[in-house]
Amino acid sequence: MSRNSLLFSLLFVFVRIWSNGGGVEGLGVNWGTQATHKLPPKVVVQMLKDNGITKVKLFDADASTMSALAGSNIEVMVAIPNDQLEAMNERKQAQKWVKNNVVTYNFNGGVNIKYVAVGNEPFLASYNNSFVNITFPALQNIQNALNDARVGDAIKATVPLNADVYYSPEDNPLPSAGRFRADINDQMTQIVQFLNQNNAPFTVNIYPFLSLYSNSHFPVDYAFFDGVSNPIVDNGIQYTNVFDANYDTLVSALKGMGYGNMTILVGEVGWPTEGDINANVNFANRFYRGLLPRLAANKGTPLRPGYIEVYLFGLLDEDLKSVAPGNFERHWGIFRYDGQPKFPMDLSGQLQDKYLVGAQNVQYLPKKWCMFNPNATNLSKLAENINYACTFADCTALGYGSSCNGLDANGNASYAFNMYFQVQNQGDLTCNFQGLAMVTDQNISQANCNFTIQIATSSSMKLLPGGGLFLAAFIYLLL
Ligand SMILES: *[C@@H]1O[C@H](CO)[C@@H](O)[C@H](O)[C@H]1NC(C)=O
Ligand SMILES: *[C@@H]1O[C@H](CO)[C@@H](O)[C@H](O)[C@H]1NC(C)=O
Ligand SMILES: *[C@@H]1O[C@H](CO)[C@@H](O)[C@H](O)[C@H]1NC(C)=O
Ligand SMILES: *[C@@H]1O[C@H](CO)[C@@H](O)[C@H](O)[C@H]1NC(C)=O
Ligand SMILES: *[C@@H]1O[C@H](CO)[C@@H](O)[C@H](O)[C@H]1NC(C)=O
Ligand SMILES: *[C@@H]1O[C@H](CO)[C@@H](O)[C@H](O)[C@H]1NC(C)=O
Ligand SMILES: *[C@@H]1O[C@H](CO)[C@@H](O)[C@H](O)[C@H]1NC(C)=O
Ligand SMILES: *[C@@H]1O[C@H](CO)[C@@H](O)[C@H](O)[C@H]1NC(C)=O
Repeated sequence: MSRNSLLFSLLFVFVRIWSNGGGVEGLGVNWGTQATHKLPPKVVVQMLKDNGITKVKLFDADASTMSALAGSNIEVMVAIPNDQLEAMNERKQAQKWVKNNVVTYNFNGGVNIKYVAVGNEPFLASYNNSFVNITFPALQNIQNALNDARVGDAIKATVPLNADVYYSPEDNPLPSAGRFRADINDQMTQIVQFLNQNNAPFTVNIYPFLSLYSNSHFPVDYAFFDGVSNPIVDNGIQYTNVFDANYDTLVSALKGMGYGNMTILVGEVGWPTEGDINANVNFANRFYRGLLPRLAANKGTPLRPGYIEVYLFGLLDEDLKSVAPGNFERHWGIFRYDGQPKFPMDLSGQLQDKYLVGAQNVQYLPKKWCMFNPNATNLSKLAENINYACTFADCTALGYGSSCNGLDANGNASYAFNMYFQVQNQGDLTCNFQGLAMVTDQNISQANCNFTIQIATSSSMKLLPGGGLFLAAFIYLLL
């Protein structure tokens, strides 16, 4: 062994040990990108590495994301969005998708793809059955295409499903009575049989926050992991949190179908920090301080003790997500929109009071804010202008229970105008609002309410004077 290769293997071993020590074994995160200003994919991948995160779940197979992940060895779940499921019902289209989005990256130094997510919660009641009949054929075609391309042993197709595909009946609301929803029972049977045939996992998204959000009588403590005074008792098993109860309801539903041993991944679990009275940093902190040590200790659930493969939802806040589910929808990140941590979090489950490593070298727009012009006298168009700003920018922090809910009327206007101004990359004409607004270089944040500055993305770089753009291009070439 040459000196260099010895050095290399020592270094390699060191890197391996170090990166295994970085977090819970096999903890994953969801990396969604529905944001007006996205962090550069390379910056995000560095964040994952810096925090010892070894698995990532995507919502597409975007080329820039994939090339940033290449060579990182991070395990990846790529995804086919719901609006492409119909196309995947054609074998040829599915083969083409697999070729372009999986096989292309399957080389030494490429992307370590482990799963293909076929659709995202396609059986949600709010989708009006749009995807009910096209999900299973898409799953079948994709796994078959993976098998034909000889990567099917290592790469499995799965369907991330919302926990609303199963339930316990009202007359026996216990985990052991779990079964699949009657209206999709045929589809679920086909899917589960096919997953089993291909040794692929069942993927479910479990949201204790939504249990609390959707039911005002839901016992708050049951959403967390600190114990409750009156556990649910099921065949002698005590359930003290809804995560375990929900997961085991699925285990029972699978058992009822004859697949009680099927591997289950938790595709999404997490807690939002804004947008509802129960969506705040304190509750999110409490939730993760309960969840992470259990995952690290491979505690599992009463019916499935041991390791569970889990993907936290999500990595970053996403200001373009639909707020149809609720205002909280844009605030699921364990990091803010700019890649900075929101609260202390220890992924290794040791409950150390430290922050995750934030995104490095983030470029921000200049320290300029847009605010309500206190000299404006004719306010007849104010509401209209605020409404316009909030249609194109994220004002969810103004709502009930959120960090900016206490602002006065002028503060509300300033908040809305600033969010719009930032989304528009502080463009010259974007802080006017018919004379109701003005630019300021004073930080107008108030108490708990942050008036944020957006990050500079490659598209907003164009706003730099020519020299700046040249310099940026030069620095880019150096990296
Ligand atoms: C589902 O149906 C409802 C009422 O029929 C409609 O308002 C809604 O837009 C539909 N949603 C989708 C996703 O098609
Ligand atoms: C799905 O297929 C079944 C059986 O062919 C049919 O009865 C049902 O109407 C279809 N549902 C939708 C939403 O297309
Ligand atoms: C399921 O797994 C358990 C524990 O590993 C094992 O004892 C049992 O035989 C398995 N059942 C089936 C049907 O594979
Ligand atoms: C508001 O009006 C006062 C008095 O006319 C003036 O001194 C001040 O500069 C104005 N402020 C802004 C922001 O236009
Ligand atoms: C305020 O502005 C509106 C629309 O621009 C106009 O119709 C109205 O006459 C103005 N009111 C006053 C008091 O100037
Ligand atoms: C500010 O906006 C929020 C959200 O729209 C609203 O609930 C609140 O009443 C507004 N405050 C004032 C003083 O207008
Ligand atoms: C503005 O002030 C707030 C509150 O003091 C602070 O948290 C934030 O970092 C400041 N923003 C900038 C861009 O300096
Ligand atoms: C405001 O931003 C600062 C960092 O600039 C952060 O420490 C603080 O938690 C933020 N507050 C809210 C409510 O987001």
